[in-house]
Amino acid sequence: MSALKLPNGPQTHPWVQTYQWLTNPLEYMEDCAKRYGDIFTIRIGPVFTPQVFISNPQAIQQIFTTDPKQLDSGAAAGSGTPLLGPNSLLSLEGKPHQRQRKLLTPPLHGERMQAYGDLISEIAKQVTSEWPVGETFTVLSSMQEISFQVILKAVFGLKEGLRYEKLKEILIAILNPKRPILRAIFLLFPLLRQDLGPRSPWGSYLRLRQEMDDLIYAEIQERRSLADESRSDILSLMMAARDEAGEPMTDLELRDELMTLLVAGHETTASSLAWALYWIHHQPEVREKLLQELDSLGDNKDPNAIFRLPYLNAVCSETMRLYPVAMLGLNRLVKSPLEIAGYKFDSGTILVPCIYLSHHREDLYPNSKQFQPDRFLERQFTPSEYLPFGGGNRRCIGMAFALFEMKLVLATILSDWQMKLADTQPVLPVRKSFLLAPGGGVPMVVTGKPQQNQRVLETNLV
Ligand code: HEM
Repeated sequence: MSALKLPNGPQTHPWVQTYQWLTNPLEYMEDCAKRYGDIFTIRIGPVFTPQVFISNPQAIQQIFTTDPKQLDSGAAAGSGTPLLGPNSLLSLEGKPHQRQRKLLTPPLHGERMQAYGDLISEIAKQVTSEWPVGETFTVLSSMQEISFQVILKAVFGLKEGLRYEKLKEILIAILNPKRPILRAIFLLFPLLRQDLGPRSPWGSYLRLRQEMDDLIYAEIQERRSLADESRSDILSLMMAARDEAGEPMTDLELRDELMTLLVAGHETTASSLAWALYWIHHQPEVREKLLQELDSLGDNKDPNAIFRLPYLNAVCSETMRLYPVAMLGLNRLVKSPLEIAGYKFDSGTILVPCIYLSHHREDLYPNSKQFQPDRFLERQFTPSEYLPFGGGNRRCIGMAFALFEMKLVLATILSDWQMKLADTQPVLPVRKSFLLAPGGGVPMVVTGKPQQNQRVLETNLV
């Protein structure tokens, strides 16, 4: 078949496009959308394959509803990374992807997920109890600590101890590279991944990964030998799960899936939480309204009641609309020719649902750069207009879990602490590998002791 004409896009050299995409993704995308509309083609590394960025709701709806046999993500589309491995949900496609999603869905939803409510609130209380009153600290680090502990305890089922500490130390080193741009470059250009010894960037990364794998396999081995059926963490549920042929997951599959949940769920939730705290304290009336809503629950702060609070939900939604931590959905690879929004695409074309641009369409979100949670109370958006968790067969499997965690952590912090932003400078988004993080990590100051303690203190003084 002769090559079909792709939607218009910048004609600058692909190296220039790659540079702009790596260093200034939001401005670059906005600039392209202004010039070429809501479907355009860019060419970025590693082989400068054209990628069609889409923020047209009808086209996105088509992407989310097309049969995965025709259009799917997975390793062939460039998803999955060397850290996650070939058995990761992100690397798989077709039947194996479907099978793995079936195994992973129950532990992250419904009653099983709700069972982690108390654990999440406890972790939030414990981490925030170490906040220094009156001193500036970065909220993002605390949110990373919380989401990390939630994953290690709820997903891995680890108890604090030597293995927990060691694993945490290695994961932090792997997930928070000192030079995130360099990591993004390695991920984009596989040829650069050369082991030039323990001091070279890729060499040291490989050694860390090996240490981490040893710890994970040791945990799996120990779990197998103890065979404790009362455990309810996600690793135990995955180990107990059987597919249609009655087969359990192999150690390799368990390792890859654990890493996937950790990598996909840790930084995304932490950054979203840090953004939420920024906006809530940037606009005091938002905080006031949230406190009133939380007060309306009385003393019974049941996790499910918190989860259902409408204004808290609107604040979380607006946080993830304005700066969605995942700027883009996963790449979708066209597997057999198809037509979307009047364009005919050949097999091999990469389509990318563009979350950031969709969330800044002025026709859907007037004054899109302003934080206005009420827009989510005034109207409902369709899954192709509002998509912080992507959609279709690839929609984030941790969506319910992440929202549950975000709401419980925010409710705990707002109920316990009085804080303010450390300065009046606006916090701007920065690229962190594939994600969008709040630049500077949101510096804040705790201005009051936990309100509850204060009340106890006052009673004692009387
Ligand atoms: C605020 C937090 C989070 C955000 C914004 C987020 C966002 C996303 C997005 C945009 C995708 C791609 C969907 C698509 O292209 O259609 C995705 C996929 C995924 N997410 Fe999340 N995520 C979050 C938290 C989590 C958590 C907590 C977990 C697990 C515990 C998780 C696990 C995954 C997995 C495994 C996939 C791949 C799904 C597949 O390929 O079938 N995410 N997420």
